[in-house]
Formats: sequence, structure tokens, C-alpha cells
Amino acid sequence: MLKSTVMSQPPLLVTCGLPYTNGPCHLGHLRTYVPADCYVRYMRRTGEEVLFISGSDNHGTPIVVSAEERGISPRALSEQFHRHFDETFKRIGVNFDHFGMTDDPVNHHRTREIMSRLEKNGYIYKQIVHQAYCPKCRRFLPDRYVEGTCPYCGKQARGDECDQGCGKHLEPGEIQDPFCKVCGTKAEFRDQEHFFFRLSAFRDYLLPFLDRLRGTSNAKNYAIGWIRDELHDWCITRTLDWGVKFPGRDDLVVYVWVDAPIGYIAFTEEWAADINKDWKRFWCGSTRVTHFIGGDIIYHHCIFWPALLKGAGYGEPHAVVASGMVKVDDHKFSKSRGYVVWTNEDYLDKGLSPDYLRYYLLAYTSHTKELNFSWKVFGERINNEVVNIFGNFVYRTLFFAHKEFGGVPPGTTDPAIIAEIEKCLTGVDAQMKEYEFKGAVDTIMGLAAFGNTYIQTNAPWKLIKTDRDAAARIIKNCIQIVKALALLIEPVIPAKAQECWAQLGYSDGVATHMIDEAAILVPERQLMAPIPLFSRIEENQIAELDAVLQHRVMEANKKMEKVPSISIEDFSKIEMKTGIVLAAEGIPKSSKLLKLKVDTGGEIRQIVSGIAQFYKPEELVGKNVVVLTNLAPAKIFGVESNGMILAAGDTASLLAPEKPVDPGTKIR
Ligand code: MSP
Ligand code: ZN
Repeated sequence: MLKSTVMSQPPLLVTCGLPYTNGPCHLGHLRTYVPADCYVRYMRRTGEEVLFISGSDNHGTPIVVSAEERGISPRALSEQFHRHFDETFKRIGVNFDHFGMTDDPVNHHRTREIMSRLEKNGYIYKQIVHQAYCPKCRRFLPDRYVEGTCPYCGKQARGDECDQGCGKHLEPGEIQDPFCKVCGTKAEFRDQEHFFFRLSAFRDYLLPFLDRLRGTSNAKNYAIGWIRDELHDWCITRTLDWGVKFPGRDDLVVYVWVDAPIGYIAFTEEWAADINKDWKRFWCGSTRVTHFIGGDIIYHHCIFWPALLKGAGYGEPHAVVASGMVKVDDHKFSKSRGYVVWTNEDYLDKGLSPDYLRYYLLAYTSHTKELNFSWKVFGERINNEVVNIFGNFVYRTLFFAHKEFGGVPPGTTDPAIIAEIEKCLTGVDAQMKEYEFKGAVDTIMGLAAFGNTYIQTNAPWKLIKTDRDAAARIIKNCIQIVKALALLIEPVIPAKAQECWAQLGYSDGVATHMIDEAAILVPERQLMAPIPLFSRIEENQIAELDAVLQHRVMEANKKMEKVPSISIEDFSKIEMKTGIVLAAEGIPKSSKLLKLKVDTGGEIRQIVSGIAQFYKPEELVGKNVVVLTNLAPAKIFGVESNGMILAAGDTASLLAPEKPVDPGTKIR
């Protein structure tokens, strides 16, 4: 019965936001991949046919810039990080059916096919745009080649995204006070012809679509809010060599956000071609595509991408599951700015269990909430929940069963225990299907906690002295709970679940069993002595991990305080000249200030300077100094000051020309 209703639905396709190939995997990425993997594992074990697809995102300016910096081609850089992500996902137990590359031929082909369809359907038009241009590098500055000020919130922003401010997507020409990211020159705007996607034409489609869309409420609600505001057409071409050529134009490539989601289709095609299956089942007509992403790319997946699919005649996404952002010290992760925790370097390479990290990412907080990363909390959750509750119950049960009965005793499970297991299955099922991963894990841990209380109150180790059969019944019930736990926890911590399964005497893979086998009796059998599944994370290990992170955050904070770079034009607004101190005296009631008379060439200025703690008035007379001469006049302690003496550091060491020059010589 159940099977046939499942069969009548289209197959489930789960995708994950494609990682850019310009840097290594960090814990922010994992919040897309681990929950998606957990969901896929779970759904498969309810009998669903699921295809799990992702790949690397190879195009866009950051990859070109990184490749230029390293002196290699964008393709070579992409291959390097593609391999890195592929390996990292395997280490952490995220098993895609296929992990492709957006720069591979199938995606070039599929992207051009979709562009042509959109053009044919009237959704693409040409328009002149004012594009940022660097007169020194002599090139147009698409996206990350340019930085400037966000026109919406006034924060420092990147060419296509206000990354540290309001998060808005910026269209070419929108950024204010742009400067070239490569050489720092102030950018000019030049006219250039580009192609636009008529996103605004999809408003009437998108509103009801978003109503139908499943997934997490944050994705849906943000998107609905944005559409109510306004829908701008998107410029979908860039003046760049690296990327998918726009059909018929060798000088233009499509914007990376066009060919990246199309990669989801191309990777399905690649997977299907390898094993002679039909990719169209997943993408055309009635479909069930579920996108797992982070909260930063909701606009792209809930607005732009569905419109693109619709405009080209493909099926629409079924669900968008968007995680809250992973932060560190309340900053959004940023490779370039240094707010980051690396998956390999900071975690896996230190020999820490992949399953612990999976557990933390899934159980720490609701999937849609922000996750401010902390090693302390990580340690506490693992020790208090995984080790003390889950691990402890499994070990106590198996240890006692082995010691007293040599394994699983005969007999059946109490109906009350079966009911408890069924209750847990129902709860987990509802929560998994609502993408409430924390809720699902909590429910599983609830069963483990129930088991602990049950074994504690029934104390089979006492009972066995007076009533061996009663003790056997108790432990049989506990073993049934252990079986249910192993089956249920597999999507969360697959490697540990497998160990637990083996300790229960099963020789096959736990993942080959359906979730609802949890209530099927564990037969009488001999068992080996159990080994504890988990070990505690020691305080000093947490302290070590935390020290590394604290140091990194400190460095990043320092970098953030760095003053923004200025252009040579800005510098030319500053006038500085050499001078000679003619006279110096203290200022009444001030211990810090001195009143100086300085010859700055043909004029004598009065300057108040905060150097009294470091220089006596008499030692200053006759000294060569450097003066900021066009500082607006000010009154300090009631004394008129006309300029500023330059001095270095905390001891106010005065600056002076290294070779003798006349007073009034300009500093350039
Ligand atoms: N290449 C785009 C996605 C294109 S999808 C057609 C991209 N790449 S990414 O490398 O920046 O991110 C890859 C995945 O990780 C995305 O799902 C993204 O949302 C997610 N995350 C990256 N950093 C994140 C956090 N700090 N927190 C949570 N998830 C974030 O975006
Ligand atoms: Zn902004």
C-alpha cells in the first residue's frame, strides 16, 4: 500500500548549493551538505527513490581573480578545489550520486540551450548599461572586480552583492564610488551593450509558485517579501573570457548565476548518461526537485531560478530548504576577511570524528536559525548528549547482555516498548519531512534518554540476582531500543550507527534497512563484548581548538579595522610641508599640549601639538619637522592652531626629512 503511493510520485531529486572553486571547504558550507545528506539518507530508508546531485561552481570573477593571483588558469584552480570538495564530502560521509563541474561541456551545452529558448520565448533583450571600467587596467570591472559603496545601505560592498551590509544583489552600474579591486584605481563608468533577462515578467507566475513551494518557511517568506517590493530585470551577461559564452557572442559570457543553477540539470544529465537513464524524469513536466542551500542565496533559488526554468519550459522546483547562516564571533563566514572555521585543517585533519561534526550541525539549533559557531558548545553537546546519553545507554545494554547472557536473550519485546519506539518513529518522520532536523535528532535522543531511564529504574543488574528471566526481559527491551536507535540515527551519524549495528550482531549495512524495521524483534543470538561507540572530547582539546579560532578572529577583526584604501587623487588633497620650530612653550592647565611657532617657508604658523609628555619645549627649538599645512584651523584649549606636526606612534617620535631641505618644501 505505502509503496504504491510512493511510486506514483515523481522521483525525488535533492541538490545542494554548488561550492565555488576558489577556496577550501568550511563549516558554513557543511550546513548545506550535511542536512541534505541526512535528509536523503532518511528518505531512501522510507522507500523513496532519491537522486542526490551537486557539483562545483567554477565560473565568476572571484575564481578568475584567485587564479590570476596564483598564476594558474581558472580551470586548473577549479579542478584543484573540485577535487578538494569531492574528497572532503567523502570524509564527512556526504555521498552524492554525482558531483559535477559547471565548466564541463554538458553544462556549457545545457546553458546555451536554455539561453536560446529564453530568447525565442521573448524573455531576453539587449540594453546599454553603464558598466564600471578601470582606466588603468583597461578593462570592464564585472562583479567582484569592483568594490564600492552599497546604494541601499551605504556599507562597503562588492560589485554584485552587498556582502557585509544589507545583503542585496547589486546590478552592474548600481554600486557607488567604485574602484578597481586589482589596482585600486577609481573606476569610470562606460556604456556597454548587455543582455537582460526579463525577470519582471514573472511576477504573476512567481506569487502563486511561492505559495506552492515547499521547504523551509524562511525561503518562502523572504522571497514573497521581495516580490511584493519590486522585481528588477537581471543583466545576465558579463565582459569576461572565463565562463559560458552567450550564444552568438564571443565577447560575452553569461553571469555565473545563470550557468550555476543550470548545473543542477547538467549534472543530472551526466549522471543519467553514465547509467543509461532518463534525466528528463527529474526536470520536465511534473517533478520533485528539492534544493538545499544557505540563507544567503534564497533570492537566486526562489525567484531568479524558478523564473528561468519557467521561461525555458522546464518543471519547477518542489522545495527550497534554506539554512540559517553559520557565523563566527557574530560575523558571517568570509574566506577573504578571515572569519572562518575550515573543515579539514581545523577539524578532520586533527583526527576528530566526522560524525561529531554532523551531529553538532544537525542538532545544535533549528535549521533555519543562525548558528554562531563555538567549540565550547560543540564539546558540551557531544559529551552531554552523544556520549552520555546515547553512547552510555548502548554500552550499558550491550555490556550487560553480553556479560549475563552471552548476547541477545530469547523472548519478545513488551508492547509498551514497541509503542515507545513507534511514537519515536512517527515523530522523527514528521520532523524529517518538515526539514526540522534538530527536532528529529532531539526525538531520537529522547528515545535514548527513555532507554537510560528504563534500564536505570529496572536495574537488571539487581534483578538478575533474584529473577534471571525478568532481567532477560528487561535487557531484551533495551536491545530493541538500541536497534531502533541504530536505525534512526544512521542519517545523522552514519559511521557510528554502522558500528552500533555491527555490535548488535548484524553483518550487513544498517543503511540497507528501512527505518520502520525498528520494531522488528532482534533474534536470540550471541554477541561479542561491546566497545564504547564514543569517547569524550577532553577539555584541553576544546581549549586548543578554541585558541586557534580566537586567534583567527582577532586577526580578522584587526583587518576589518583597516582604513579603506584611497586613490592618489584623495592623497593629493593633503598638503604637507617641512618646517623648523622657532619657539615652544607650555599651555596653562594642560599637561599634554605645547604651543609652537613653526617656520613653514615664508610664513610662521602657530600650532598646538600634543607632545608635551615626550618633548621639553627647549629641546624642540631648532628641530626640523613635517607639518600638515592644510588642516582646517581649530581652537584647542582656547589657543588657535594652524596645522599639525606629524609624529609616529605612542611616543610621538617627530618625523623629519632625512636629508636637509628648506623649510616649506612640499612632501609628495
Ligand atoms: N556557488 C554558489 C552557489 C551556486 S548554487 C547554483 C555559492 N557557493 S558557496 O561556495 O559560497 O556556498 C556553497 C553553499 O554553502 C551554498 O549553499 C551556500 O549557501 C552555503 N554557505 C556558504 N557559506 C555559508 C555560511 N557561512 N553559512 C551557511 N551556509 C553558507 O553560494
Ligand atoms: Zn547594502
